Amino acid sequence: MKAYQITGPDGLASLQQVTLSDPAPKSGEVLVRIRACCLNYRDLMNVMGIRGVTGPIPRIPCSDGAGEILALGEGVTGWEIGQRVVIPFMPTWIDGGFTQHHAGIALGGVVNGLLCEKACLPTACLLPIPEYLSTEQAASLPCAAVTAWDALFVRGNLQHGETVLILGTGGVSLFALQFAKLAGARVLVTTSSEAKAALLRGLGADAVHIYQNDPAWDEWVLSETDGVGVDHVVEIGGPETLNRSIKATRFGGHISLIGVLTGTAGDIQTVGILRKGIRLDGIYVGSRAMFAQMLQKMTEVQMKPIIDSTFDFDQAPAAFHRMASGQHSGKIVIRV
Ligand SMILES: NC(=O)c1ccc[n+]([C@@H]2O[C@H](COP(=O)([O-])OP(=O)(O)OC[C@H]3O[C@@H](n4cnc5c(N)ncnc54)[C@H](OP(=O)(O)O)[C@@H]3O)[C@@H](O)[C@H]2O)c1
Repeated sequence: MKAYQITGPDGLASLQQVTLSDPAPKSGEVLVRIRACCLNYRDLMNVMGIRGVTGPIPRIPCSDGAGEILALGEGVTGWEIGQRVVIPFMPTWIDGGFTQHHAGIALGGVVNGLLCEKACLPTACLLPIPEYLSTEQAASLPCAAVTAWDALFVRGNLQHGETVLILGTGGVSLFALQFAKLAGARVLVTTSSEAKAALLRGLGADAVHIYQNDPAWDEWVLSETDGVGVDHVVEIGGPETLNRSIKATRFGGHISLIGVLTGTAGDIQTVGILRKGIRLDGIYVGSRAMFAQMLQKMTEVQMKPIIDSTFDFDQAPAAFHRMASGQHSGKIVIRV
C-alpha cells in the first residue's frame, strides 16, 4: 500500500511517500481502506517537530481517517465488507474516564496514524458513517469535532442561552461555533482578518472581534457581556491567550483548555482562576461514546463540517503547507 511516513527531523522534507506491505487484520479487527484523512494542528506539530513533539521514526502521521471495510479478521461479527466507517482518535477509549493508556495510543502520535491506504483497527472502536455525510466529511470529525463536543457538552454542560467565547477559525473552533449555535448559545469569536470575520458571521457568530486590529479582545468580551464575562471559553491558544481568557470569563465560569498554539508553558495569572472560581478543564479529545453521541445529534440536524480545502494523496505536503500558513478556516482534507 501507499503511505506517508515521517522519516526524520527535517519537517516537511522528512514527510515521504513510501510503499509498505498491506497490514492483515488480527482477531477482532477489520482492515479499513482509508479514503480520506483530515489534518489537525497536532499533525503539523508531529511532522514539523513543533514544540519539541517527536516520536518513533519512521511513523505514519495523522489521527483522523475514514473509509470502508475491506476484510474482516477472525471472529468479527456485526460488520460488513464495504461498510463505511470512521475511526476515533484513541481507539481504546471507548467510554468512561480518560487514562494514560488511551492517551499513549492516540493515532499518529507515537503509534502509526492513518495517512495511508489501509489500516487495521479493532471493531470495538469503529463508528458507522451516517448516510448523509460523505466519507471525506466524516474524516474531519475524530479529533476537532469530538474535542469541541467534549469541551462544550461533556465538561462544559453548556445550556441554552449561555455565552461562549471561541478563539479563531481553525478546526476545533468552527465545530465549537456550530455546536454552540445548535445549543442556543450566544457566541463571541475572535479572529485574525475581516475575510474570516465574514465567514464567522455567515456561520451564525453573534459578535466577532479582529484581534489583529485590536489585541485587547478580553476588554471587547467584557464590553459585549455588560462587564460580566462569558460562561464558557474554548481556549485553543494556550499560555499567551489564557490570561485574557481568564479575564473574559465570568465568576463561576468554565474554560476548556485545549490548545497549544502559543506554547506549552507560560506565566499564568492563577489568582484570577481562584478569585473568580473558574473551572479550568484540560481536554484531550474524547471517547468513542462521546463521538457516537455527537454523531447522533449531528445526524438529527444534518450538520455538516466546514471543509476549507481538499488535496489529493500525492499533494499531501501541500495540505500541511496550507495548515502551516494559517490561512485556512475549518478542516483540510486529504483524499486517499
Ligand atoms: N486538546 C485537544 O484535545 C485538542 C484537540 C484538537 C486540537 N487541539 C489543539 O488546539 C489548537 C487548535 O487546533 P486546530 O486543529 O483547530 O488548529 P487549526 O485548524 O490550525 O486552527 C488554528 C487557528 O487558530 C487561530 N489562531 C492561531 N494563533 C492564534 C493565537 N495566537 N491567538 C488566537 N487564535 C489563534 C487561527 O485562526 P484565526 O486566523 O481565525 O485567528 C488559526 O487558523 C492546537 O493547539 C491543537 O494542538 C487540542
